Amino acid sequence: MTDRYAVIGNPIAHSKSPFIHSMFAQQTGQALEYVKILGDPDDFAGDVRLFVAAGGRGLNVTVPFKEAAWRLLEDVSERAAQARAVNTLVVRDGGLLYGDNTDGVGLLRDLADNHGFVFAGRRVVLLGAGGAARGVIRPLLETGLAALIVANRTRAKAEALAAAHAAHGPVVARGLDELAACGCDLIINATAAELSDTPLSLPPGVLAPGGWVYDLFYGATPTAFCRWGEAQGAARVLDGLGMLVEQAAESFWLWRGVRPRTAPVIAALAAARHTHD
Ligand code: ATR
Repeated sequence: MTDRYAVIGNPIAHSKSPFIHSMFAQQTGQALEYVKILGDPDDFAGDVRLFVAAGGRGLNVTVPFKEAAWRLLEDVSERAAQARAVNTLVVRDGGLLYGDNTDGVGLLRDLADNHGFVFAGRRVVLLGAGGAARGVIRPLLETGLAALIVANRTRAKAEALAAAHAAHGPVVARGLDELAACGCDLIINATAAELSDTPLSLPPGVLAPGGWVYDLFYGATPTAFCRWGEAQGAARVLDGLGMLVEQAAESFWLWRGVRPRTAPVIAALAAARHTHD
């Protein structure tokens, strides 16, 4: 039987993961099937059980189940434990489940390897203090950056997140309104503002001349944060499409022991968003 994989989320219809993994499989000559599962918000554990009972070998877990997956699994990687979220579930021989989180490494590979951002000595702002920020903060702190400023609308949440990671690198907390003239080299948006009716509001001077912006979100059209970055004259304006493909590649490697090439997949998705969607 062909090995079965899936992405589980809710909603799930627009997920690009089946496209990405089928391109990886084709490229590396791996025989596998990869489908979408619309998860039941009240019974994530039941959905996982059904998938495993049907012979499933691995799951990508997306919104809103990443934290539920972390709670469900006893055996998780250190990076998943730090993020308190699992985005990759591996079904081991004998049906034992293992959880990992590839989001942080996906972000760093896209920024550093694909786009050549050098973290050493740089001042970086991480906007947001929810699940998305928690998933990337520790890998960011391990890059050798000079300062990580966690900035959140609700300052207390930024303080809690920064305090939890203070032992691992130079991190401070701010409110969004305290970023004026901060002059940072890279601003990463990990807020959910794109999904809300209230636009993200940032003071002037947050970005240093030559600074970059990176939105963990992506869409068929530029996100509000990317449009803000353009208006600020950011040297590079990037959205989360590359991170999406890089986190998928790391999942593929965990499942299959083979590293796919990501550039052709990123190019295919970027071309597709200019033609339809
Ligand atoms: P996720 O798991 O996607 O990170 P979350 O845990 O609900 O979602 O966190 C959402 C994050 O986006 C929070 O940091 C939130 O700020 P608050 O803690 O102040 O709520 C931030 N956020 C959401 N909408 C926002 C908006 N319109 N402007 C600024 N920040 C926003």
